[in-house]
Amino acid sequence: MKVTVVGAGAVGASCAEYIAMKNFAAEVVLVDIKEGFAEGKAMDLMQTASLNGFDTKITGSTNDYTKTAGSKVAVITSGIPRKPGMTREELIGINAGIVKEVTENILKHSPEAIIIVVSNPMDTMAYLVHKTSGLPKERIIGMGGALDSARFKYRLAEALECPISDVDGMVIAAHSDTGMLPLMSKATRNGVPVSEFLNEEKQNYVVEETKVGGATLTKLLGTSAWYAPGAAVSVLVQSILCDQKKMVPCSVMLDGEYGESDICLGVPCIIGKNGVEKIVDITLTDAEKEKFATAAKAVREVNGDLKF
Ligand code: 2OP
Repeated sequence: MKVTVVGAGAVGASCAEYIAMKNFAAEVVLVDIKEGFAEGKAMDLMQTASLNGFDTKITGSTNDYTKTAGSKVAVITSGIPRKPGMTREELIGINAGIVKEVTENILKHSPEAIIIVVSNPMDTMAYLVHKTSGLPKERIIGMGGALDSARFKYRLAEALECPISDVDGMVIAAHSDTGMLPLMSKATRNGVPVSEFLNEEKQNYVVEETKVGGATLTKLLGTSAWYAPGAAVSVLVQSILCDQKKMVPCSVMLDGEYGESDICLGVPCIIGKNGVEKIVDITLTDAEKEKFATAAKAVREVNGDLKF
């Protein structure tokens, strides 16, 4: 099956690389507006195929969406990335116009595509795609929770001084420095609640470092991160293409779930061949419910700045 990745910058190229390396897709089409850029990235990546042992074909296109026709999944990474000191929310003006136009171009040639939104502010961009595309809500997935959960697990393993494969945990709510909700109450090390190993101070450290995970990297790199975002996208794309029905926190349109409606926020979802196949309603503590509602309020305010 074919996958389109729009935006051949660091995040888009990383998405293409991880998807190809996992060898489950027939073709990845990289699209970019910069003349020759996507073609160059695609060629460079294809020259790793014999070295890395994958058969996925990677092609590039300078804004020619006819090349993307018949894609099962389209990933939108286009837009300007964060610079040090910037919040994701500050990107809204420029990125909204780009994301809207890209969505229209994708759907013209792949009317059945499932859209994965990566561009920031991600929860608001996913909401914009809902409001402007008319697609059923199952087919619009905001990538944020998958990435934030990976960063949570990284910080948990660091604090627990154990391998990452020993830990499990999820981050829900908003993909923002203040609205992220790492679910410490449900985090485990081999099935044992992490509170058995970490005192409150250590737990708080993990939560706070997870929430600013993107900002920390932006400060270090001078632009936003790409490896973990690319890997997170590849997990979502694989769950769709291989109908794995993995449970991944994604930003999806809520219709009463978690007490919210008409908003995209990160919640645990079952991701399969139809996109979002189910929103999993888990029990939150009262404090978590309150934080979820606060995050929703902040995202709603940002959504208010959208002009359709
Ligand atoms: C991040 O958190 C790009 O929003 C993305 O790194």
